[in-house]
Amino acid sequence: PLVLHVLGARPNFVKAAPVVRGLAELGIRQGIIHTGQHYDALMSDVFFADLGLPEPVANLGVGSGTHARQTAALLTGLEDVVLEHRPALVVVYGDVNSTLAAILVCAKLHVPTAHVEAGLRSFDRDMPEEVNRVVTDALSDLLFATSPEALSHLANEGVDPAKVHLVGNPMIDSLFAALPKLDPAPVQERLGIDGRYAVATLHRPANVDDPEAARELVDAVLGVAEQVPVVVPLHPRGRQRLAEAGLVDRPNLKIVDPLGYVDFLSLVRGAALVVTDSGGVQEETTMLGVPCLTVRPNTERPITVTHGTNRLVTPASLPAAASKALGDGAATPSGELPPLWDGAAGPRIARVIEAWLRDDNLSP
Ligand code: UD1
Ligand code: UDP
Repeated sequence: PLVLHVLGARPNFVKAAPVVRGLAELGIRQGIIHTGQHYDALMSDVFFADLGLPEPVANLGVGSGTHARQTAALLTGLEDVVLEHRPALVVVYGDVNSTLAAILVCAKLHVPTAHVEAGLRSFDRDMPEEVNRVVTDALSDLLFATSPEALSHLANEGVDPAKVHLVGNPMIDSLFAALPKLDPAPVQERLGIDGRYAVATLHRPANVDDPEAARELVDAVLGVAEQVPVVVPLHPRGRQRLAEAGLVDRPNLKIVDPLGYVDFLSLVRGAALVVTDSGGVQEETTMLGVPCLTVRPNTERPITVTHGTNRLVTPASLPAAASKALGDGAATPSGELPPLWDGAAGPRIARVIEAWLRDDNLSP
């Protein structure tokens, strides 16, 4: 039997690497389909290299577009590829458009699917990711949850608990694997930073697509830059809008290209503070014990607030929250990581998939 992983965007690569490794250790035949949703070298190739992911068996090159256009290209491209390879199981990750498209294609072709990072909910359907999560979980045959609250969200939506497995967080497996390579000094030197600094990453449509929201956010980041130098590895989404809103190099503000995985986490590890609207970065700062201020009205990852260093802020409250976090210093409030965030999620997922393939689920 063949297992295909459908990957498209930066966070997918990080979540898939431990699962691919876990399946390889069990000798299961597998391949990666890269949809091409992210295509710049700094959004894609660098992750394959840093994470040791094998070359994809196909790259669909779908690229960017409106939601409808991008999803349509993903659907037609993935249908061809699934028909060609006839996988026993397709594994999808997270909440991006590539995830949604793969689940829809497989549901219509009656190809079984597994969703890694099932059951996260922001309960905010204005987020494209929330729509993708709800649809993906409704259609998946195997659901792998990263935190306990996901189980109740899925139960509330009528998902059969027998399909759901609490396995821990593969994004944290990747972080564990990278830890020995994380060294802030070289990347700090390359970027010309020394002393205390903050790192900011911003790319949510609600923050960067609308000029008014972008201006408010940039003003807030400038408020942080008055207190501590801020480095912003800038996601391509909204780059121009944020620049128009004033996010440009200044004495205490450094805008750089997106960083590779190891460089980024090295920079975060050495930071006094992280400001973000990313999903994954909320989890990584929790594990690294770096204070994190998330500029969003909600989070699908509340465990990073209850067990980690994460706080939700508005643009208006960001500068004061930064001042407080910088004063407090780094701390993991509960002193412990969320359950099963132990670096072994990939092997757990691989064992469930192995048993599932063996038992009774192979198509005739
Ligand atoms: C996507 C995901 C989001 C995730 C993010 C991770 C969806 C709906 N959104 O958002 O959940 O947090 O990836 O980074 O799937 N672009 C480039 N080069 C690239 C890729 C994108 O320049 O390699 C630019 C293009 O202008 C594109 C824009 O970024 O239009 C948005 O890319 P897209 O993949 O549609 O969504 P993201 O905002 O990256
Ligand atoms: N990341 C990176 N370089 C950057 C910014 C983020 O390697 O310049 C990594 C980060 O460590 C995490 C992943 O990208 O592993 C998160 O992706 P992103 O924030 O784009 O997506 P989200 O998690 O919000 O869906």
